[in-house]
Amino acid sequence: MKILVAGSTGYLGSYIVKELIARQADFQAIARSPQKLEKLGLTSDQIIEAQVTQRSSLAGCCEGVDTVISTVGITRQKDGLSYMDVDYQANKNLLDEAVKSGVRKFIYISVLHGEELTHLEICQAKERFVREVQASGLEYCIIRPSGFFSDMKEFYDMALRGRIYLFGDGQTPASPIHGADLAQVCVGAVTGTASVLEVGGPETLTHQEIAEAAFAAAGKPVKITRIPDWVRRLTLRLASVLMGKKRFGPIEFFLHVMAMDMSAKGYGERKLGAWFGGNSRSI
Ligand SMILES: NC(=O)c1ccc[n+]([C@@H]2O[C@H](COP(=O)([O-])OP(=O)(O)OC[C@H]3O[C@@H](n4cnc5c(N)ncnc54)[C@H](OP(=O)(O)O)[C@@H]3O)[C@@H](O)[C@H]2O)c1
Repeated sequence: MKILVAGSTGYLGSYIVKELIARQADFQAIARSPQKLEKLGLTSDQIIEAQVTQRSSLAGCCEGVDTVISTVGITRQKDGLSYMDVDYQANKNLLDEAVKSGVRKFIYISVLHGEELTHLEICQAKERFVREVQASGLEYCIIRPSGFFSDMKEFYDMALRGRIYLFGDGQTPASPIHGADLAQVCVGAVTGTASVLEVGGPETLTHQEIAEAAFAAAGKPVKITRIPDWVRRLTLRLASVLMGKKRFGPIEFFLHVMAMDMSAKGYGERKLGAWFGGNSRSI
């Protein structure tokens, strides 16, 4: 049962690769920079060098594949491409190849509440792709995670600098998840039956509690400055006018989810406080 991983060089993708190695699974991974996969211990026959944004470079990549898992998406990349180019079209290129090769199942990582956020560019592209997966005729699982630990590092960095800034009253909940815990869910979906999974980590914490955990790990006294929510809304409006489209996308997403309940059913066991205390330095 061969699995193909796309996005394998990213935060979540590399944990999926590690999980597949630990399970001694039959898999290959696609990357535009194969050296990143060699560092994870993959052999040359496990690596497919391809550029997912170029349809032709994917030809034949799904031959003999049972399940494709894609975590491809723009987070911090500065390639000058849009969400529509990557989160939608690159994944669509892969899906077309999967359909052509008779792949059984497609697993795609979108975002928690993405369906309600299609007015944001990132979610518009992701959810357009979700609809393509649903219409493809393949079995599928759409995984909708809350925030990743990798995105919580900013709290720890602010704590190290001595002060954390929070929007509103700090009581908005979130259930961030470690990449290794989420990778187990993604790989479990290969044989699972759910077509949609909303996934959080083992704890639901308010932003205030996340800040306190970051200060505890940093060994600093709790110093929190609350920024009224109207500042967040004004920043969103100003940034949409003053910033270029590509730079605005990640900020638009961040400023929206900071004000949303991002709690979800808990999976895994890794706790954010321990991660702040030890592993956040290596992400
Ligand atoms: N971070 C979060 O809190 C969060 C929460 C919910 C959902 N998600 C979604 O989960 C997915 C995985 O997130 P992540 O944090 O693991 O992302 P990440 O670390 O940025 O990894 C993204 C992957 O996509 C590839 N990619 C991006 N742009 C590309 C391009 N132009 N051409 C080819 N490959 C490209 C990257 O390849 P390179 O290594 O070559 O750049 C990398 O393998 C994303 O779709 C993200 O939107 C993230």
